[in-house]
Amino acid sequence: MTTPTTQAQRMLDAHKHMPQGVAENYRYWGEEDTVWVDKVEGCRITDCDGREFVDFRLGYGPIILGYQDRRVDSAVIETIRTKGTISGFSTLLDTAVVKAVKAMCPNIEKVRFANSGTEAVMGALRTARGFTNRKRVVIVEGGFHGLTDEMMWKSDVEGWDPSAQSAPDIIPFGAGIPSQTQHLVDFIPLNDHAALASLFAAKGDDIAAVLLEPIMGNCGSISATPEWLSALRDTTSRHGTMLIIDEVKTGFRVAKGGAQEHYGIHADLTTYAKAMGNGYPVACFGGRADVMDVIGADGGVVHGGTYTANLVALSAAKATLDVLNETDALATVDRVGAEIRDLLGRVFTAADIAHQFAGPPSMFGIHFGDVVPSNYRDWRVTDAALYNAFAWRLIHHGVMLEPDSREPWFICEAHQSVDLGWLEDVATTAMKEAKNAV
Ligand SMILES: Cc1ncc(COP(=O)(O)O)c(C=O)c1O
Repeated sequence: MTTPTTQAQRMLDAHKHMPQGVAENYRYWGEEDTVWVDKVEGCRITDCDGREFVDFRLGYGPIILGYQDRRVDSAVIETIRTKGTISGFSTLLDTAVVKAVKAMCPNIEKVRFANSGTEAVMGALRTARGFTNRKRVVIVEGGFHGLTDEMMWKSDVEGWDPSAQSAPDIIPFGAGIPSQTQHLVDFIPLNDHAALASLFAAKGDDIAAVLLEPIMGNCGSISATPEWLSALRDTTSRHGTMLIIDEVKTGFRVAKGGAQEHYGIHADLTTYAKAMGNGYPVACFGGRADVMDVIGADGGVVHGGTYTANLVALSAAKATLDVLNETDALATVDRVGAEIRDLLGRVFTAADIAHQFAGPPSMFGIHFGDVVPSNYRDWRVTDAALYNAFAWRLIHHGVMLEPDSREPWFICEAHQSVDLGWLEDVATTAMKEAKNAV
């Protein structure tokens, strides 16, 4: 076949070469709706049929400045041109990037690098287990922590009856996950003081770590209350358990110092990825020096990998972090995000739709219902079908987002160029159409 030019041809061709016809599962939106991107720039993406979208999905959140940001791209290109990409040895950029992270996240004392959020979580968990010499790990229902077997278990809130007294079942994300990998993982609902207390009463001294996103970037930005997060911090400290805050989505986005600055609560270990490199594949984990120093030779925790701290990743991270630290980019993101949230609120009110926003302006969730969900189980009683219908209509009118209310709206600095009047008109039309459809 020559270069495929229609959606049907693209899918037909791709199916011959990739499972589902896509490069990773989450990109498959069906035969007709799978998006094929030709180019990205600023806050806009253009698909292979030449249609332009204002993008609030931003590749699942890494874009914090904008696509093709010159400040970042030129630093990367210059590094490749003058120094190369990879040597498998230390470079001066290693320490320079760690210093840039520490300048924004004062509780981070030592850091190691990774290539993805999945890998950063893996490193943090192993470090926590190495330090505590314990095995169990607690995660919060509705959180997402990457694609390792152990993290590929979830609370089946979608298949759960909210009127039932029992907790949702724990199920694997899909096939190929050995059941043994679930045996060391416990789940608790966010903001549930009783569940936290009883779990620690039963198993506290075996728990190596509690791993959570306090602002759940994979559950509509449903957020921990300051009281619950503080109780979690106290409980983990009392039991010698590591508190790992997964800032893969929130880091360098919700504040310079991420969710931890937002709450004023510090983890023992933290994971970062996404916004750290404005779309380049870079990640890291770090935290208390005494904990991180369990990494090392002769019986210490092993961490490494061929592509770790490669120069493409680190030059992108250095340039991105410098922009975020030295300019008012994040203030712009917050301002624009608040304006967009306000205009959407006006649209929902005019359409007589009960609605709630969760999370900060830089990554807010929208929930159709009467109360802000306080955990994943509460999300189950929101009108996710209406959100889904609304999101698809937005997409058809040129606004790209994930058609699932568990994925927040991501804002980047380049969204300041969006015509908010246009967006309000489009959202009004999309909501009218969605109400008629459901
Ligand atoms: C909170 C969180 N942790 C970990 C991951 C895994 O990151 P990656 O997709 O870079 O492996 C994600 C991905 O969305 C995430 O949102």
